[in-house]
Amino acid sequence: MGKMSGLPSRAAHSVLHFLLFLASFAAAAQASSRSSNQGSAVVRNISTIPESNYGRGGLSHITIAGAVSHGMKEVEVWLQTFSPGSRTPIHRHSCEEVFVVLKGKGTLLLGSSSLKYPGQPEEFSIYSNSTFTVPVNDPHQVWNSDEYEDLQMLVIISRPPVKVFIYDDWNMPHTAAKLKFPYYWDEECFSQPKDEL
Ligand SMILES: *[C@@H]1O[C@H](CO)[C@@H](O)[C@H](O)[C@H]1NC(C)=O
Ligand SMILES: *[C@@H]1O[C@H](CO)[C@@H](O)[C@H](O)[C@H]1NC(C)=O
Repeated sequence: MGKMSGLPSRAAHSVLHFLLFLASFAAAAQASSRSSNQGSAVVRNISTIPESNYGRGGLSHITIAGAVSHGMKEVEVWLQTFSPGSRTPIHRHSCEEVFVVLKGKGTLLLGSSSLKYPGQPEEFSIYSNSTFTVPVNDPHQVWNSDEYEDLQMLVIISRPPVKVFIYDDWNMPHTAAKLKFPYYWDEECFSQPKDEL
C-alpha cells in the first residue's frame, strides 16, 4: 500500500512544485512589467507621463488616461494647460465633455447647434475650482483670457477617441467644419490607415 501510493504522491508533489514555480515566475514578471512600464502601472506619477504642445503654441497636453494610449473604452481624461492668451480652436464633437478648472481663469465661448452655424457665442467666465460641461455637438472654444496666469484644466470626455470638427470662425456652417481625426494627441499611437474612415 505504502509503495503503491509513494510514487503517485511524489509525482503530485513535483507537479505542485512546478506549478508554484510557474506562479511565482508569472507574479514576478507581472510586478516587473508594472514597475517598468508606465502604461500598465496601477498608480502612475502624472509628472512622468509624456507632455507635448502637439504643434500648438501655448498648449501643454497630457493624456492621463486615453483610448489609444491606455485602452480606455468609455472615457478619456486629459490635463491641459493654456498659457495667457492661448485658446482651443472653435470646435465640436459628438461626445460629452466635463472640465474642472484647477488653476487660473479664462473664458468659455459657447455657440449654438440649433442654427446652421455657431453664431455669436455666449461668453462665460471660468475660474479656479469651477467646473462646466459642454453639451454634445455644441461648438465651443476655451480661451485663457488672462494676461498673466496659466489656465490649467482637467478634461474628461466620453466615447474616445475624440473626433473633432473644427470651424474657421463662428459663422462657418456646421456642415463645413473640418474633421480632424485622429486628433493631434491620438495621431502618434493610431495604427489604423486614415483612408478607412
Ligand atoms: C513624480 O515625478 C516627479 C518628476 O519626475 C518627481 O519629482 C516626484 O518626486 C515624483 N513623485 C513621487 C511621489 O514619486
Ligand atoms: C474647491 O471647492 C471644494 C468644495 O468647496 C473645496 O473643498 C476645495 O478646497 C476647493 N479647492 C480649491 C483649490 O479652492
